[in-house]
Amino acid sequence: MMRAIVQAPMSGGPSTPALAAAVSNAGGLGFLAAGYRTVAQLSADLAEVRQLTSEPFGVNVFAHRSAPVDVAETAAAWGLDPAAAHWSDDSFADKVALLAEDPPAVVSFTFGLPEPLPLVGTQTWVTVTGVAEARAAGAAGADALVVQGYEAGGHRGAWVDSPQREDVGTLALLALVRAAVDVPLVATGGIADGAGVAAVLAAGASAAMLGTAFLLCPEAGTVASYRSALVTDRPTALTRAFSGRLARGIVNGWMTAHPDAPLAYPEVHYLTAPMRAEARATSDTDRFNLWAGQAHSLARALPAGELVQLLTEEAREALELARHRIDR
Ligand SMILES: Cc1cc2nc3c(=O)[nH]c(=O)nc-3n(C[C@H](O)[C@H](O)[C@H](O)COP(=O)(O)O)c2cc1C
Repeated sequence: MMRAIVQAPMSGGPSTPALAAAVSNAGGLGFLAAGYRTVAQLSADLAEVRQLTSEPFGVNVFAHRSAPVDVAETAAAWGLDPAAAHWSDDSFADKVALLAEDPPAVVSFTFGLPEPLPLVGTQTWVTVTGVAEARAAGAAGADALVVQGYEAGGHRGAWVDSPQREDVGTLALLALVRAAVDVPLVATGGIADGAGVAAVLAAGASAAMLGTAFLLCPEAGTVASYRSALVTDRPTALTRAFSGRLARGIVNGWMTAHPDAPLAYPEVHYLTAPMRAEARATSDTDRFNLWAGQAHSLARALPAGELVQLLTEEAREALELARHRIDR
């Protein structure tokens, strides 16, 4: 049985073992983000989350297959050190091997469909952003699909980042994928409250996955200046300026200055990493990524366990109200 409320994996700092454990202890499904962690760090995260909870939790792994790209010209144009840029598969095989030693309840893959699909979790989930990806992931044996709509904060999970992509919102994509595959679906993107959870469950999802909604929890690793930006109504947009891969964040100076950033992931991620680390440390919110979904201004600063309970109550109320409206 799948838990109805899932905390999205959020790499780059926000996801912590404490956040995942608090969500799982409250009856949701917490997630660790293995992205950008070394294998040793992931191993320590796993030990920590297991110390904090005996409930099920998930681990998300990057599965990109992009070809290496030379970003020397971009580095020169942007005034950044080209030596920082490199290609990496984020230690995919070693992370999968580590997870296979002591499988968590769920292992999810984003940015691609590994072939063959490693069945290392009790359940294996794959993120999809379109119907073709959903059909392929279903055929490969995924136990569930994370259906990521256009509203979502952070990177698009698309298997191939391309200017010709189609951007479909969460409810529309959920309906399209549901019509195309017979696999449990986890809807994600722009879900801000319990009414949003109820909406996707009513639309046929087995669970709702929320990312941005958890960024203000005290257990999250979100730095203070990022938290301050989240509670404003500043707009979000899609950008490649921080990582070379399309992602949604609160519009800031670096994004605005580099509207034509190249498709070069993860090289541009590593190229901008020193600048971002310094900007994070000095609270310069124009020079690091403020990943956020379109509904970020509705995020609530509550302990994660309380937030899961509140979302559950709100979802129940929203479903009752909807039933009442249908029947009146
Ligand atoms: C800060 C941040 C980091 C993210 N990192 C990851 C990640 O490592 N792996 C992943 O599959 N998705 C990642 N995502 C996307 C989330 O899994 C999810 O699709 C998204 O948060 C849903 O939209 P919402 O933020 O509007 O709830 C990230 C999102 C955010 C906001």
